[in-house]
Amino acid sequence: MKLLLKNPSSVVTCSSSGKPFKRGAEMKDVGLINDADIYIEDGIIKQIGKIEVDSDCEVMDVSGKIVVPGFVDSHTHAIFAGTREREFAMRARGMTYCQIAKAGGGILETVRQTRNAQKSKLRSQAERRIDKMLSWGTTTIEIKSGYGLDFKNEIKILEAANELKDESLSDVVVTFLGAHAIPQEHINNRETYIEILTGELIPYIARKNLAEFCDVFCDEWFYTIQEAEKILSTARENGLKLKMHADELSANGGVKLATELKATSVDHLENISLDEIMLLAKSDTVGVVLPAVAAYLRSKPAPAREMIDNNCAVAIASDFNPGTSMVDNMQTVMWLAVSLNKMTVEEALNAATINAAAAVGLSDKFGSIEVGKQADMLIVDAQNYSYLPYHFTENKISKVVKNGTVLEFS
Ligand code: NIG
Ligand code: FE
Repeated sequence: MKLLLKNPSSVVTCSSSGKPFKRGAEMKDVGLINDADIYIEDGIIKQIGKIEVDSDCEVMDVSGKIVVPGFVDSHTHAIFAGTREREFAMRARGMTYCQIAKAGGGILETVRQTRNAQKSKLRSQAERRIDKMLSWGTTTIEIKSGYGLDFKNEIKILEAANELKDESLSDVVVTFLGAHAIPQEHINNRETYIEILTGELIPYIARKNLAEFCDVFCDEWFYTIQEAEKILSTARENGLKLKMHADELSANGGVKLATELKATSVDHLENISLDEIMLLAKSDTVGVVLPAVAAYLRSKPAPAREMIDNNCAVAIASDFNPGTSMVDNMQTVMWLAVSLNKMTVEEALNAATINAAAAVGLSDKFGSIEVGKQADMLIVDAQNYSYLPYHFTENKISKVVKNGTVLEFS
């Protein structure tokens, strides 16, 4: 299949010039090209420039529109049952996320509902969510387990995620987050659950190829640094790549561990210290900032400005989940990154594309408009790329090109 995107007013390439991601000041540049067409064959970008094509090539006139890379949402918890608007209201009255979690709410509330849901129901709900996200420009999505917290239910969620990976239009990356909270039945014997994670779940998941990444929620009231190290080291020995939730509710040394273990990404970072920023900047671990969480928790936003100024590679993601981010739209995430985390529009665009692809280890395939990459692109009905985060409530994406196929959403 051949496709030519003809006469866009500009192409936002987000090219990283052959590197896996952009760091620090490199994030200022979105690699804008004017006067170039884009030629795609069998889902791959073959040529960028002024191009004449044969008559068997479909030509799409995109004059007056801009083309940007499909967004990569590198951190979501998109498979869950039930919602938690009551906790949103409780926090608005002054309770904290930790107080609600300690009282048995929070993650454990969603665990109760998710354990009761059938795999087919979880899958079909998540499929609708992913399709909606695709219409807002998310062409690749990472999905974590973590609302099962026992063998049967974690596997149920991972199987649902793998079915989505096989069948949905979006590319799906699956992460095992069995260490999301300590399950209620193991509150007084947490080492038993950690034994189930390291001795049973991780080896089974690796053997059955049910996840590419393993993640741990390392924070006050959740998993300690020592526990995170044990779980992540076991995952690495079993061939899984690593991610980590760190420094969300408190500063806890998670970034040091993530960089020592050469994690692909370390996520949240609301309470990252300057020392940790320096460690991150020297590493190849991508720092993933989740701007919606600070808004939902009324907490301090991650210091993305300081991270970029100190040469870190920063990505942004939605963290879509029923507790701390019901935001499923990367355009909204970009707006929040600019408004709350003090990123520039250009940095937010690179953070939502090339650096986000690097945060799931896939920047050789996704995240930029470059020859050889998969043709995942957004045709935006705007004069300027700044329009996307500026007026995020109106979807200006007129068409999504996914793997070379043009999708239309009414
Ligand atoms: O990324 N921090 C841990 N996990 C989610 C919250 C999940 C929940 O509250 O259900 C997060 O913010
Ligand atoms: Fe999360």
